[in-house]
Amino acid sequence: MPVEVAACASPDEVFPAIAPVFHYFSPAPTAADAERFVPFMEPSRVFAAREGNAIVGGCGSFPFELTVPGGVVRAAGLSVVGVLPTHRRRGILRAMMRAQLDDVHRRGEPVGYLWASEDTIYGHFGYGQASLCGNIDVAKALARLAQPPASRAELRLIDDAEALALLPRVYDRVRREYPGMVARSAEWWRLRRLADPEHRRMGAGPLQRAVVLRDGEPRGYALYRIHQHFEGGSTQGHVAVLEAIGADLEATRDVWSYLFDIDWVARIKAAQLPLDHPLLLMAAQPRELKFVTHDGVWVRLVDVPAALMARRPGGGDPVVIEVADAFCPWNAGRWRVAAGSVDRSTAAADLACDVTTLGSVYLGGFSFQRLARAGLVRELRAGGLVRADALLPADRAPWCPEIF
Ligand SMILES: CC(C)(COP(=O)(O)OP(=O)(O)OC[C@H]1O[C@@H](n2cnc3c(N)ncnc32)[C@H](O)[C@@H]1OP(=O)(O)O)[C@@H](O)C(=O)NCCC(=O)NCCS
Repeated sequence: MPVEVAACASPDEVFPAIAPVFHYFSPAPTAADAERFVPFMEPSRVFAAREGNAIVGGCGSFPFELTVPGGVVRAAGLSVVGVLPTHRRRGILRAMMRAQLDDVHRRGEPVGYLWASEDTIYGHFGYGQASLCGNIDVAKALARLAQPPASRAELRLIDDAEALALLPRVYDRVRREYPGMVARSAEWWRLRRLADPEHRRMGAGPLQRAVVLRDGEPRGYALYRIHQHFEGGSTQGHVAVLEAIGADLEATRDVWSYLFDIDWVARIKAAQLPLDHPLLLMAAQPRELKFVTHDGVWVRLVDVPAALMARRPGGGDPVVIEVADAFCPWNAGRWRVAAGSVDRSTAAADLACDVTTLGSVYLGGFSFQRLARAGLVRELRAGGLVRADALLPADRAPWCPEIF
């Protein structure tokens, strides 16, 4: 029987359409899982692969406002991608990506954005690895800041209602400075970031919300859980940090010295930290952080000129880039990038690359020069790489603290 991919027509269809990915999670999806997706994905953004009446694959995207170096851009945050194991490797993901990227293009969202379950999947569809991120796993006995906070901040554990009022004030300020972060609505905070259903705790305690106040103003916060566990009478437990953010240097010190000082655990663990997180330089014993990196977010330029314009190309001489894009051929060809403009060009190209390379450059996680050293972009005319990097500069590593 043929498999057909189509967008959902009503909100009732959304949760069944995204059910296939839950096959790979344990336990089975609940109403709390539905709440994490259905209110944020209008039906026309969700695609189901149907074989007769049976849904065998699905995916959907969040409409994000994504921070990029130089501003913000509308981005489709792809999630809940799944094909049942009975139907794998028959091209169903490919058909869903066709429908989904065509839809994103029609909507005028210039960028696709995702966290990949496996690093081998999304390059097939033009996504490039856009950041590296890291985990720390530090022994409590060795977790110290070289320079602790100069004075004691007010720290409070707060309930959901207070967290909803205070934490977005910190996050919204910081997310505008960090390429890779997305705007969060009050509903996103309530139903996703602060939601704490039992089955998402994976054996840990409830979500703790600590806020740092200075002069009564929220300046930083930590969301974490305690995984308690004893062996031979001593704790082998750890603090699992879900998100820790300071609005400035002092608040970053406040947040991390708080997390490092929590008693009666053996370790502190945190994930999805950017490669240039200040903690790596603030720790008294940086090696002991055991910072381990892996691929972070992935970016797909769905509309090359619109996406690059959102980066507000800066000063310097123009560069002409020959872009290959097998999956979205409307992007293929030569693009002249100059201060304040991105246009089609017939001039000789300075650089040649696949659209995945532009995804890797997009958030500032990798430079053209670095990608060239890995053979991912070719310099056709001397100076092209340097000029391209000057036009699309970035001063910090991308940071997306939340897997969506
Ligand atoms: C990953 C998954 C969605 C792939 O679906 P699928 O229908 O089997 O994929 P397709 O048959 O359309 O494959 C499309 C292409 O991607 C490749 N591909 C798909 N999944 C891959 C994987 N896990 N590793 C490497 N390549 C993969 C295929 O080889 C194929 O390449 P080709 O076009 O050059 O022949 C499916 O295996 C799945 O649901 N996995 C578990 C859940 C998951 O990881 N979801 C992704 C969440 S981000």
